Amino acid sequence: MATASANHRQHLKPEEPRDPGIPSMSHSSSSSFTTSNSNKKKWSNFLPILVGLVVMGEIAFLGRLDMVKNADLVNSWADSFYHFTQPVLPSLSTQDALLGHDRGSEDGDSCEAWLEKEDSVPYSRDFNKDPIFVHGNDEEWKTCAVGCKFGFQGGKKPDAGFGMPQQPGTASVLRSMESATYYAENNIAMARRRGYDVVMTTSLSSDVPVGYFSWAEYDIMAPVQPKTESALAAAFISNCGARNFRLQALVALENANIRIDSYGGCHRNRDGRVDKVETLKRYKFSLAFENSNEEDYVTENFFQSLVAGTIPVVIGAPNIQDFAPSSGSLLHISKLEDADSVAKTMKYLAQNRTAYNESLRWKFEGPSDSFKALVDMAAVHSSCRLCIYLATKIQEKDEESPEFRKRPCKCINGLKTTYHIYVRERGRFEMESVFLRSDNLTMEALSSAVLSKFQSLKHVPVWKPERPESLRGRDELKIYKIYPVGMTQRQALYTFRFKDNSDFRNHIETHPCAKLEVIFV
Ligand SMILES: *[C@@H]1O[C@H](CO)[C@@H](O)[C@H](O)[C@H]1NC(C)=O
Ligand SMILES: *[C@@H]1O[C@H](CO)[C@@H](O)[C@H](O)[C@H]1NC(C)=O
Ligand SMILES: *[C@@H]1O[C@H](CO)[C@@H](O)[C@H](O)[C@H]1NC(C)=O
Repeated sequence: MATASANHRQHLKPEEPRDPGIPSMSHSSSSSFTTSNSNKKKWSNFLPILVGLVVMGEIAFLGRLDMVKNADLVNSWADSFYHFTQPVLPSLSTQDALLGHDRGSEDGDSCEAWLEKEDSVPYSRDFNKDPIFVHGNDEEWKTCAVGCKFGFQGGKKPDAGFGMPQQPGTASVLRSMESATYYAENNIAMARRRGYDVVMTTSLSSDVPVGYFSWAEYDIMAPVQPKTESALAAAFISNCGARNFRLQALVALENANIRIDSYGGCHRNRDGRVDKVETLKRYKFSLAFENSNEEDYVTENFFQSLVAGTIPVVIGAPNIQDFAPSSGSLLHISKLEDADSVAKTMKYLAQNRTAYNESLRWKFEGPSDSFKALVDMAAVHSSCRLCIYLATKIQEKDEESPEFRKRPCKCINGLKTTYHIYVRERGRFEMESVFLRSDNLTMEALSSAVLSKFQSLKHVPVWKPERPESLRGRDELKIYKIYPVGMTQRQALYTFRFKDNSDFRNHIETHPCAKLEVIFV
């Protein structure tokens, strides 16, 4: 049980208990330290980032209304960020030089070598020597894919700090695991309006999501235990008050003759001084009722039920199915009127062992790829993901400079063009070069080029050491998703896809030296 998120917890400071009565695992942090206005010059360094962030804030807000448009907006945002309007061609003299080569008709290799060389413009900052510096509790993220240091000392102006305000040139970061229902500023649009540059919340639409899920914190594949309790369900609900209908639903289930052992403050009928997960293991169902119904707000109530091998009956995130380890693995009371039919299903499953066992099949066969792709995100600590996010923004600023805009990014050889794109694994920072040919500019060719590139590098997925042994697989790589760098995880995992090959071709043609991210499962 190492760590990543355990550490995480340590250095977030609780502001107020999230749900009075439950030991708070959640945090809202705003560090208090004095800021100085002495360094106004450098402020401008961050401006383009801020402009981008403001636009992204609007996107995040609109995204709730219309996910499809959202993806389009991000593309246009990326366009304006890069300021690339036309693909840049090699200059005439270099083309002449190239044509002087005898490359043979099928050979794109010399084009590739040429592009590797011509496109490799050095970035202005070497993060190994000059790591991303964040004002926060001392910590050096040695395993982070980019130089990443947290601290309060050092005389160096931080790239980012938690809370508001920050000195000019330092990005202000909002980090909180609370629901926006209780902490309004955690709403992304609200946080942007208040002036936060980087938002880290449970929302997968935030810049750097801080979810409750992680392999390190929850032994998700722990074996299923015999269900020895006579009551159907266990509840650990600390207080009956909540800004949703969880109390009414509890009553409705009781009225439908579902026997519930309640260990929390709400309708308590059992002594609550027990180990929650060990107790849940003995029940067929667990009432995983959150205190608010908010997208992506899924807490330990749910993940502990998964560890315990009990079927979660969920009130909470309307998109809870995105968090299901497999289909049919949870019951969702999305509105109060569902309570009766969910009660019926609970009774049916309680009587039919085969059907009940099928709901827990993922415990034996492993969770779905989509679940793995979600939880794997947390294999990289959120503090490290913050550093990667900031470093990426800093490099994107470099990419607007004339030196970068002069990169050829493609090489024309007779009727064929070789495109140079950059791909990295989610959770890593360094990009790998991948080449695509105009006669085969398809998503299938992309997948196969990415696979062979990463296989040739003997790439080890970032989640490998974090996942439970039984889910690590062997050395094979499997692509789950490829998407443009800069998308939110909500887009990356659920809403974005290149519509078809012509959409993909269009992206590559309009984004010279396109940067993509790949999720392996
Ligand atoms: C029990 O569940 C299994 C699997 O879903 C189903 O095939 C079977 O018909 C059910 N049995 C009864 C008595 O409902
Ligand atoms: C449940 O199903 C798994 C296989 O999916 C099987 O190994 C296990 O014995 C079953 N348990 C019960 C109680 O039927
Ligand atoms: C295009 O790429 C795919 C995937 O790599 C490959 O299977 C196919 O043969 C290629 N087609 C051509 C014409 O090169």
